[in-house]
Amino acid sequence: MGIAKEIVAESIHAALPELDLREIADLIEVPPSQDLGDYSFPCFSLAKRFRKSPVQIASDIAGKIPENKLFDQVNVVNGFVNFTLNQSELASMLLPKVIKEHRDYGKNSEGVGKTVVIDFSSPNIAKPFSVAHLRSTVIGHSLARIWEHMGYNVEKVNHLGDWGTQFGKVIVAYRRWGDEPSQHLKGSIRHLLELYVRFHKEAEVEPTLDDEARLWFKKLEDGDPEAYALWEEFRKTSLDNLQEVYELMGITFDHYTGESFYNDLIPATIEKLEPMMEVSEGADIVPLGDDMPPFLVRKSDGATLYGTRDVTAAIYRHETFNFAKCLYVVGDEQSLHFKQVFTVLKKLGYDWADNCEHVPFGLMRFGDMKLSTRQGNTIFLEDVLNKAIELTKSIIEEKNPNLEDKDAVARMVGVGAVIFNDLRNNRIKTINFEWDDLLNFQGDTGPYVQYTHARASSLLARAGEEINLNEVNLSLLKEEEEKVLITQLERFPDVVVLAARSNEPSTVARYVLGLARDFNKFYQVHRILDEDTDLKKARLTLVDAVRKTIDTALYLLGLESPEKM
Ligand code: ARG
Repeated sequence: MGIAKEIVAESIHAALPELDLREIADLIEVPPSQDLGDYSFPCFSLAKRFRKSPVQIASDIAGKIPENKLFDQVNVVNGFVNFTLNQSELASMLLPKVIKEHRDYGKNSEGVGKTVVIDFSSPNIAKPFSVAHLRSTVIGHSLARIWEHMGYNVEKVNHLGDWGTQFGKVIVAYRRWGDEPSQHLKGSIRHLLELYVRFHKEAEVEPTLDDEARLWFKKLEDGDPEAYALWEEFRKTSLDNLQEVYELMGITFDHYTGESFYNDLIPATIEKLEPMMEVSEGADIVPLGDDMPPFLVRKSDGATLYGTRDVTAAIYRHETFNFAKCLYVVGDEQSLHFKQVFTVLKKLGYDWADNCEHVPFGLMRFGDMKLSTRQGNTIFLEDVLNKAIELTKSIIEEKNPNLEDKDAVARMVGVGAVIFNDLRNNRIKTINFEWDDLLNFQGDTGPYVQYTHARASSLLARAGEEINLNEVNLSLLKEEEEKVLITQLERFPDVVVLAARSNEPSTVARYVLGLARDFNKFYQVHRILDEDTDLKKARLTLVDAVRKTIDTALYLLGLESPEKM
């Protein structure tokens, strides 16, 4: 929690010791208008408990709040106790802290000693990495950083779709039409896609191909050497391609434990499920009551399924990481699947299933193209990122042709634009991918925030002053635009908590957009470098604190912060 909010909470606790700090902190609000104060404590929910009216409780509290230099005013309005903070006091305690802590600012210790497992990205390999998996990749990566900021140990898991009937199809296609010397395949994920698409086209006129594919997948499951060797090669080709894309985005994983990883553990899962299993049309199922379709354990030909592997993976993860939370960042079209998986785990007696959570998100519309791998109109994520980088480069050439390291900046900003576009709205919303929106340096975009960071950085570089935080007189920061910034900086720790509680990176994205807008307003209205030395030093300190908080917020979203652009 922010340092001023903490002092507000402690003061209320001193006035009303019957309430514990945590409860108080949860009740504290930011009033709708700053005229009412900076923080307010509503007493309505306490009326019953203390058998007094909210107004009475509020005035009792206000009368007992200990003297504090940080409070300009503590007053009662209806059932609220409102706190107005002393700006220079707040600036003096806050800004040096923000600057010293930098990337650790807003970090808390809630999660110390606890682990969060985050299952994200998890593309189906043997198909190229398409934009269809962009959302999970970007949201999951940001959540990993946000939970780390909450003090948790985070295990980033890529549950690759590297097993299943689609491999039967690719094997059949490869054996029929594939490049002969298997060397050709190396590095050629696009060739794999061609095969996959061709399979679906030919299977329309030759339906026996589907049976053949099922047969080959069965062979693969039974450990047939030819099938296995081909599968291994497909997997390696895909993984190499994937890792290039992750590298471009600055994303890493702790575990590439895909579906195939669980093959040997499946029999143990089936054994556990046996007592509740029934046979339906030759397949093994677990009935899940009236409000859910049954869970499919094994198909009639004995082939295992996505869900069985998910149940197995959850048990494995719990055994391995003893997680406090296991998050699945997967599109909302899989909501039923996860409901079924979690219900099965509960039926098996695993109470920790309550700590498994599906974190769904909406569709991404990419222009007017529908994304279907089967028909071959896949949009490669790699191509999208490279196009973003190229477009950014041409904007830089136009606006700032003398910039050093143009390529590095173009990569940070191009990739950042794609990531930010995905994170700026609540994840459940459908998002549109429009090049003009994405790269608008004035809009609600990554480049706008990054540009603000670069602007603040170059201001500090131009000033060229080393500021002694023990000597700078921060009580000189009296302007309205300064107050807005200081208040925003104080709230950052709460923003992180809010983002984590709701698994919403958009909370951080909206915050940093607001901070950037407020900074640019300040920058427009006030001369910074022309001022007399003391005021200049105070303002530069504020600029540095803002710049560092922008950098930290961008980091939590998975973006880099250029010094120049
Ligand atoms: N590979 C799946 C897909 O693309 C997503 C996997 C998500 N994770 C999981 N544990 N099921 O649809």
